[in-house]
Amino acid sequence: MSHYPFQLEPLPYACDALVPCLGPETVAIHHDRHQAAYVKNLNKALENCPQLHRQPLEAFLLNPGMIPASIRTAVCRNAGGVYSHELYFDGMTGCRKSTGPVGRLAQAIDRCYGSFERFRDVFTQTALSQFGSGWAWLAACPDGGICVLSTSNQETPLSRGLRPVLCVDVWEHAYYLDHQNRREAYLDCWWGLVDWEFAEENFLPCCGGSASRPRSL
Ligand SMILES: [Fe+2]
Repeated sequence: MSHYPFQLEPLPYACDALVPCLGPETVAIHHDRHQAAYVKNLNKALENCPQLHRQPLEAFLLNPGMIPASIRTAVCRNAGGVYSHELYFDGMTGCRKSTGPVGRLAQAIDRCYGSFERFRDVFTQTALSQFGSGWAWLAACPDGGICVLSTSNQETPLSRGLRPVLCVDVWEHAYYLDHQNRREAYLDCWWGLVDWEFAEENFLPCCGGSASRPRSL
């Protein structure tokens, strides 16, 4: 697992692989400038704090109390940005066709939401309802169930005891060049990009239980 100094992970596909939903300029700016800035600023915040240099990224988000107060906000914001963007970029498939939920995650979606269509509707409405900048998430709960939630700015579900499975960036920088202010149009085509095999990989380590209803948050 990586630690300080954190590196900008390469995209798992070419910048034009998400066309027509997201154009190459959107993807390049989002990754090469926005995500790069989070990595750079995280390293800068940690620079003079060698006791944190062996900590993995998630540790900052799971246990912010270990970070000195003077740099806690900067570390948490930028670590959240790095973590969320890696999940977001890796959660889209630029090469193979997006299928629909598979495996244990497909079962959990049916069990908790009744159908994929209902789950998709709940997720989309959650993403649309996020006021201003933030994220919508599918996360695994400690009881083996799943839930949908949104967070503001760079907060992640890790701070609420939930394991992220899939996320979509609803900051305007994620879609403005292609969809301007039409977040709904962006979400509509994002569903066609979701890498469900990646989501299943994230869910498998968390799916020991069998809760049959989405957790209310
Ligand atoms: Fe972003």
